[in-house]
Amino acid sequence: MRDAAAALAAEFAADVRRDLALTPKQLQSKYLYDQLGSSLFEAICRLPWYHITRAESRLLARHAAEIVEEFGGGTIVELGCGSGEKIVMLAEALQSRGGTARVHLIDISSQALEQTEERLTRLEHVSVVGHQSTYEEGLRRAAAARTTEDPVLVLLLGSNIGNFDTPAALDFLDRIRRTLRPGDLLLLGADLTKPEADLILAYDDPLGVTAAFNKNLLVRMNRELGADFELTRFAHRAAWTASEQRIEMHLVSLAVQRVTIAPSGVIVNFDAGEHIWTESSYKYDPEELQDMGATAGFMTLKQWIDPEAAFALTVFLA
Ligand code: TRP
Repeated sequence: MRDAAAALAAEFAADVRRDLALTPKQLQSKYLYDQLGSSLFEAICRLPWYHITRAESRLLARHAAEIVEEFGGGTIVELGCGSGEKIVMLAEALQSRGGTARVHLIDISSQALEQTEERLTRLEHVSVVGHQSTYEEGLRRAAAARTTEDPVLVLLLGSNIGNFDTPAALDFLDRIRRTLRPGDLLLLGADLTKPEADLILAYDDPLGVTAAFNKNLLVRMNRELGADFELTRFAHRAAWTASEQRIEMHLVSLAVQRVTIAPSGVIVNFDAGEHIWTESSYKYDPEELQDMGATAGFMTLKQWIDPEAAFALTVFLA
């Protein structure tokens, strides 16, 4: 366990060194989710301007019975479980139908895994295995653990697909499909294209929670890597790029400045206005999502839209 933690710390240091040397400077969004980051993200999900979580829950509440009817029971693999509300809704629907499930939870955040496992323990018809890992690694482990002919249901919710750029999203869907067998299912929750003003409010909220979530990555690098980021000299920014249909999250340097990560021997120079790109969130149209699934070899079984928030839940058949 100690070795695993040390390996993760070394990987974090190496990723930061490499990605801050890129132009534009970048940081991988998976590093946003330390303990505080996970709590801040949960707070984001409750903000009145961030509609994704509530829209997805509304759709699941309405259609969970239909989804588990299609599935019947077997193995559920959730990629990025967060605090676990969604899988509980599906597990409860499965219970009403008398089905059982082996659940594999995959998340980069130990806090997210603990919370979700806790929520699922009271449900006796499910057994749970948590994997603190990236999606790729977790998917590999879940696939390796498959022993029966029972169907698999993969959950990729919360618009997590939007955090990949489009070629990477296609590649990831393809990889998921190739770990599945015909008859297995993928449930994809994805945010849809909507007016820019709504997106800016969702990703740069007036309470400043999203700003705190993004800037916490600087706090984390100071604490875990011995960096000396001056928090007041960076600002959160959300910017919509219409041609790419994506919202980008940036940390903007407010001054010419030099940051050092002394233990790694890294020196990073910033111009005033220069940014670190921490995350993108791509938005799609419902048909685009179906096409992406088809390109990856899936067939669309069902697609439900929440018109209020412009959010889609799609059931794909492998
Ligand atoms: N999957 C979430 C999304 O794209 C992640 C997210 C929400 C996020 N708000 C953020 C990531 C702000 C970085 C910064 O909606």
